[in-house]
Amino acid sequence: MKVENINFSQYSEEYCNKIGTFKNNSHYKNIYPPHSIHFFEGLVLYSLAKENNIDIFIESGVRLGGSTSIWGRVFNDIEVYSVEKHIHANSKSLWDEHIIKHLAPMYPFINLIEGDGIIEIPKIIENNPSKKIGILIDGPKDNQAINLAKKCLTYDNVSFASVHDLPAGSQPKSFQTLTYPGIDELVKLTNNLNIEHPGFQSYPQGYNLTVFT
Ligand SMILES: C[S@@+](CC[C@H](N)C(=O)[O-])C[C@H]1O[C@@H](n2cnc3c(N)ncnc32)[C@H](O)[C@@H]1O
Repeated sequence: MKVENINFSQYSEEYCNKIGTFKNNSHYKNIYPPHSIHFFEGLVLYSLAKENNIDIFIESGVRLGGSTSIWGRVFNDIEVYSVEKHIHANSKSLWDEHIIKHLAPMYPFINLIEGDGIIEIPKIIENNPSKKIGILIDGPKDNQAINLAKKCLTYDNVSFASVHDLPAGSQPKSFQTLTYPGIDELVKLTNNLNIEHPGFQSYPQGYNLTVFT
C-alpha cells in the first residue's frame, strides 16, 4: 500500500497510549530530548511497521536517544537495533550518561550498536534473511542517507527505508511528511504528545520524514 493511503488514525490511539508521557518518565532529564524526531513522524513509521507486519526495526543515528526511546515504548514486541557512530571524546560523556546509564536499562530489549550505519545496517539485513525489516536513517544525512536507503531497498526482506531531515520535495517518488496534503491532520493525531516536544513550537510540521518503499 502507498504510504499516503494509510489510515494513520487507525494506529494513533494505540501508539500514543504506548508512549504515555515523558514528563518525569524519561531517560533524558525527565523530558523528551530536544531536536529528536517528532511524535507524528514516529506515528508514520509505527503505522508502516504495522501495515507491513515487520519483525525488525533498525535505526541509524541515536544522539540523545529521543527516537530510540519512542521505539523502546512502541516496538517492545519486535526486535530493535539502534546504531550510533560518533561516540568519540566529545560525545562520550553524553552517551555514557543518557544512553548507557539511563536509556539502556529502561529499554533492555533494544540492541545498541556502536558503529557506522552504512556498514552495520546491511550486516543486520543480511543476517536476517527471513525477517521483514523497516528502517530509519537519521545519521548519516543527505546523499549518504539516500544512498543507504536505496541500498537497503535492494534486499527482498526490507519493507521500507526512511530518511529524516531531507529537503522537502527533494525525493519525488517517495512519501514526505512536509509535502503530504494531510500533514495537519497527521500532526493533530499526536496532539497530546506534541506539547511535550521541546521543538514543536518552532517546527510544528516537523523536520521532514521521507519514506522509500
Ligand atoms: C539527528 S541525530 C539523531 C537523532 C535521533 N534519531 C532522534 O530523533 O532523537 C544524528 C546522529 O547520527 C549520528 N551519525 C552520523 N553519521 C552516522 C553513521 N554513519 N552511522 C551511525 N550514526 C551516525 C550522529 O553522531 C548523531 O548522533
